[in-house]
Amino acid sequence: MQKDPSKKYRAHPPVVLPDRQWPNRVLTAAPRWCSVDLRDGNQALAVPMNVSQKLELFQTLVKIGFKEIEVGFPSASNTEFTFNRRLIEEKRAPDDVWLQVLVQAREDLIERTVESLIGAKRVIIHMYNSTSPAQRRVVFGKTKDEIKAIAVNGARMIKERLHRLKGTEIMLQYSPESFSATEVEYAKEISEAVMEVWQPTPEHKMILNLPDTVEVAMPNVYADQIEWMCRNIKNRDSLIISLHTHNDRYTGVAATELGLLAGADRVEGTLFGNGERTGNLDVVTVAMNLYMHGIDPKLDFSNLGSVIDVYERCTGMTVPARQPYAGELVFTAFSGSHQDAIKKGLAEWEGGTRSHWDVPYLTIDPADIGREYREVIRVNSQSGKGGVAYLLESEFGIELPKDMQREFGPIANDAVDKLGREVSGAELKAMFWKEYVERDTPWKLGTFRATSDNGKVSCQATLLRNGEAKTIAGNGNGPLAALVHGLGTTGTNFEITGYSEHALSAGETAAAIAYIQIKTADGKTRWGAGVDTNIELASVKAVLGALNRLV
Ligand code: KIV
Ligand code: ZN
Repeated sequence: MQKDPSKKYRAHPPVVLPDRQWPNRVLTAAPRWCSVDLRDGNQALAVPMNVSQKLELFQTLVKIGFKEIEVGFPSASNTEFTFNRRLIEEKRAPDDVWLQVLVQAREDLIERTVESLIGAKRVIIHMYNSTSPAQRRVVFGKTKDEIKAIAVNGARMIKERLHRLKGTEIMLQYSPESFSATEVEYAKEISEAVMEVWQPTPEHKMILNLPDTVEVAMPNVYADQIEWMCRNIKNRDSLIISLHTHNDRYTGVAATELGLLAGADRVEGTLFGNGERTGNLDVVTVAMNLYMHGIDPKLDFSNLGSVIDVYERCTGMTVPARQPYAGELVFTAFSGSHQDAIKKGLAEWEGGTRSHWDVPYLTIDPADIGREYREVIRVNSQSGKGGVAYLLESEFGIELPKDMQREFGPIANDAVDKLGREVSGAELKAMFWKEYVERDTPWKLGTFRATSDNGKVSCQATLLRNGEAKTIAGNGNGPLAALVHGLGTTGTNFEITGYSEHALSAGETAAAIAYIQIKTADGKTRWGAGVDTNIELASVKAVLGALNRLV
C-alpha cells in the first residue's frame, strides 16, 4: 500500500445539493423490482448458466414475484439468443411479466436483439453506453458529443425497428453506464438526448436506469446524484427512474435504499448479490429490510431455503454463512447472553402479549422465511447455561430445573471447549446422559419396592455398591424418604433438596425423567437424573446418580 494514498487516489467529487431532501424521507412502499440475475449475474459466472439452468432460475424468479426480468444479452451468444427464443416460443413468461434484454448502441446487435424478441408479449429493450470520463477517454477516445451521438443513434436504430414487434407491448430503457462516475450535468444531457428520440410520455414512460456501475463514493453521494437527476431532468413524469448498484465499497444495499429515498422508482439487482466483481445489489436484503419495517416488499421469500437451493444449483455460487437473512448462521446465536435474551424474547412472543415483533438479536421471525426456531441456538464453548438448556428442551423435551442448569452449564462448556468446536443437540444430550443418567458406580440399582400403610411408607432395595450386593430397608413419609432413611443405615447420610420430574417426549424409549438434588451432611450438593418407564424407579435412579457424582 501507499505511504501517502493521496498521491495516487482521490475522492470522487460530490454533487452540490445543499437543499437535499432525501435525508428527511422514509420508505413506505416497495419499488418496482427488476431481476438481473440472468444477465448481469450470469455474465459474472466463471461458467455461465446453460439454457436449462437459466430456465430453472427464471421460473424461480417468476415464483418469487418479479414482474421485470432481464433475461439476457441475446446478441451476445447463441445460448443467450436461444434462451430468449425458448422463453417466448414456449410461452414461459406469465402475461404480466416483462422480459428485459440488454443491448449496446450498435446496429448489428440491435438488429439481432429485436429478432430475438419477435412474438413476445411484453418486453423492455434496454440500451446502454458508457458515459464516464474514464470510459470516454480510455475505451472510446471520444468527446462528450461523440459519446452522446452513440446513444442517440442507438436510440434511433431501436425506434426504427419497433414496428417489427407488432402485438408486443414495449418499454424502452436507457442506461448511461457508469452513471455514478459521470458528471451529473452530462448524464442529464445524454439522457435527455435519448428521451428526445424516444419521446416518453406520462402514459407511456421510459425507464432511465442510473447505474452505480462501480461504487466510487459513499452511498449518500449516490443519493445526491439521484435526487439531482430527479429534480433537474426534463419531463420527470415521463420517466421511471431506476437504480442499479454494485457493491465495490460494500454499500450497494445502502446506496439503493438512499437512492429510493432520493426519488427513484425502480431497483435492479440479483438474488444474494451475484454479479460482476463484488456483485450487484442483493435484492433479497433490500426486500427483507423493507419487510422488517412492516412494508410489503411484493417479493415472496417465504421459502428462502428453496430459493437458495435453486440459486446455488444454477449458478454454482454459494450463499455465505453470514449473508443477511439467507446465511446459515444468521439465526444462530453463539454467546450465552444472546441466547438467553433470544430465549426470553421468543417466549414473550409466543405468549402473545406483544403486537409487534421485538425479540432481541432477531430482526425478523425466522419462521417467516421458512427457517426454524431450532436453528436459533447452537452451543459452543461460549454458550451460557440458557443456550444449553434451550437446546435440550427444544430438541429432546428435557426440562432441566434452573438450579441444575447452573450446574450442567459449565460442565457442558468444559466438554465443548475440549472438543474445540460447536456441538449438536444430540451430542449435548449424550454429555448430559453420561454426566447424570449413566453413572452407576459406586451405587447401582438392583431392585426397589415400596409399600404404603396409612401414609407410612417402607422400602426394600437391593443395591450394588462397587459391585458388592447390599440390601437396605427404610421408612419414611414417601418412597424417596424411605430410601434416604435406608441409605442412612449404611452410613450414607444426605437429604433431598431439589426434585422435579416430567414425561419425556414421544420417541424416547423411557417414559419419564426425574431430577434430584441431594445435600450431604458436610454441605455438598449434587444433582442426579434417572430415566425409567416407572417414575418411582426414575427417582431412585436419580438419587443414586446424585450420590455417584459425589465421588
Ligand atoms: O452495471 C452496469 O452499469 C450495468 C449496465 C449495463 C446497466 O450492468
Ligand atoms: Zn451492472
